[in-house]
Amino acid sequence: MTPTTRLDVLTYRTGPSDLLPLVLLHAFPLDSRMWDDMAPLVAGARTVLAVDLPGLGRSAGLGTSAPSLDDAADAVAQTLTAVGLERAIVVGLSMGGYVALALLDRHPALVAGLGLLDTRSTADDDAARANRLRVAAELESSGTVDAVRPMATALLGESSRTLHPELVDRVGALIGQQSAAGVAWSQRAMAARPDRTAVLHQFEGPALVLVGDEDVAAPVAAAEHMVAALAASQLVVVPHAGHLTAIEDPDAVADAISELAGRADVEDQRARS
Ligand code: MLT
Repeated sequence: MTPTTRLDVLTYRTGPSDLLPLVLLHAFPLDSRMWDDMAPLVAGARTVLAVDLPGLGRSAGLGTSAPSLDDAADAVAQTLTAVGLERAIVVGLSMGGYVALALLDRHPALVAGLGLLDTRSTADDDAARANRLRVAAELESSGTVDAVRPMATALLGESSRTLHPELVDRVGALIGQQSAAGVAWSQRAMAARPDRTAVLHQFEGPALVLVGDEDVAAPVAAAEHMVAALAASQLVVVPHAGHLTAIEDPDAVADAISELAGRADVEDQRARS
């Protein structure tokens, strides 16, 4: 990675500097637009922005030969610094959660509050890692995202697929707009990620762990594992939602993030006084 990496930032709202900004990190294989329904519902006037992770959405790839979420987290940190943010409430969904954990590990001073949605702190097992590498190779050889198109259905919960079939098309359209190289890079980076549960043990700030009760990819047990490792976390289980809670139930996710943000503001003001 070059020292000047700058990722694309989608600004939903610009607020006063006495409220901590909220930074949203998206899932795989999507981009920041997955937050479009949820972000405007976050209570209050704080700055809300979302970052396109490397090679996805409008962000360029990092061009590294050894894909790594550490590099993705460094790129997020550099981007936040470049837009003038020193501390933020960082919320990541699934792959965004992996990057949030890497950010907490490598740039702890940046993280004033932590939201982990539909994600896990553990590494892949051998079978999951091998599958990612197989999919990455398929993406690279085909030059298309066909290998991950079925995720449009798989990531949504059964209730959403039945009651809101239009969401399958929406997620499918987002997947279809990604670059095969960026999606492959992300798969390889996720395959290489370490277990970061120990990072949670060290975090004393306010945290939210949220999961859809129909999430198959990062189920409730993975959320409970993270809650057990955190000092000050709240667990929210969203009913009738799968892995993409922010798309499936934006109101419930916005409520939980608003509550986290309020706690983070109080902690931040206490620390400054
Ligand atoms: C995601 O939604 O970001 C993916 O399910 C993450 C993963 O593949 O582990």
